[in-house]
Amino acid sequence: MKILHISDLHFPKKLSLFSLRGKAIVGYLSYRLRRKSKHPLVLIAAMVNAISKLEYDALIISGDLTNVSHPGEFENAKEILKPLLTDKTFLIPGNHDRYQKRAIGPSPLFEKTFGEWIGTSLDPNSYIRSKKIGGKLFIGWDSNFAVPRITANGYVAPEIIEKTTSSVKEPYILVCHHPLWNPKTEIESRGHRMLNRSEVVNKLKANPPELYLHGHTHTNWIKLPGPKAPFAIVNSASSTRLSDRSHECGFHMIEIGKSTSYRRFIYSEDKFIETNPIFYEESEGVI
Ligand SMILES: [Fe+2]
Ligand SMILES: [Fe+2]
Repeated sequence: MKILHISDLHFPKKLSLFSLRGKAIVGYLSYRLRRKSKHPLVLIAAMVNAISKLEYDALIISGDLTNVSHPGEFENAKEILKPLLTDKTFLIPGNHDRYQKRAIGPSPLFEKTFGEWIGTSLDPNSYIRSKKIGGKLFIGWDSNFAVPRITANGYVAPEIIEKTTSSVKEPYILVCHHPLWNPKTEIESRGHRMLNRSEVVNKLKANPPELYLHGHTHTNWIKLPGPKAPFAIVNSASSTRLSDRSHECGFHMIEIGKSTSYRRFIYSEDKFIETNPIFYEESEGVI
């Protein structure tokens, strides 16, 4: 089973300020000033091209397809991803896809746009979605919530963790936007972290996933299984952001067989090339 994992695509889309409300105005202006140039169209085209040439069984996208959850951004994301949206694809939302209350509402924009590729719901009262791809079970969580202030925190309710660990009866791969572990050199700030990450890790021990796939922190790493989290934690964000001193643009191909192997692809001179993955032991970071 070959799993291709990309994340934090943050597709650029020009929006009219008149179409924005509340914190989306500030969020959009800050994105135009600080982040727009970091996600150039040439890189996005190179990523879609690189993925189309790779052989894989499942394509996982762990959220942040948009910037301020504007309807126009969702349509744009779907249009760009069109060649990659198949029965092999499984997506979950990131905090930028739940940025405003109006994106959630009774008919959430993420579900409305990507409903075909988000799996089926395991629980009517919470976001636990599952999809079988090539015989492998993928479970998706939504760790995001829209608040009036600009924060990027995540949270997964204990009931969601318990429901997942008690109802899933076969090996599974868990996909969720926020990291559960960070290297000591890249600690998450107070407004950018999964608030109850140690609770999530502890409760998952009842029935741990084979892998935890996430994004949110825009750089790549793999935390190997350890005593606290007995599963690998893979960060493939951001797959469309130009690399700089503290962010590396890339994505992973994970092959699960008798053992698990990892390949990493990074953007270099207008194309994606293969390079060494970045591995950490659990003790080299914190939950
Ligand atoms: Fe992101
Ligand atoms: Fe994020």
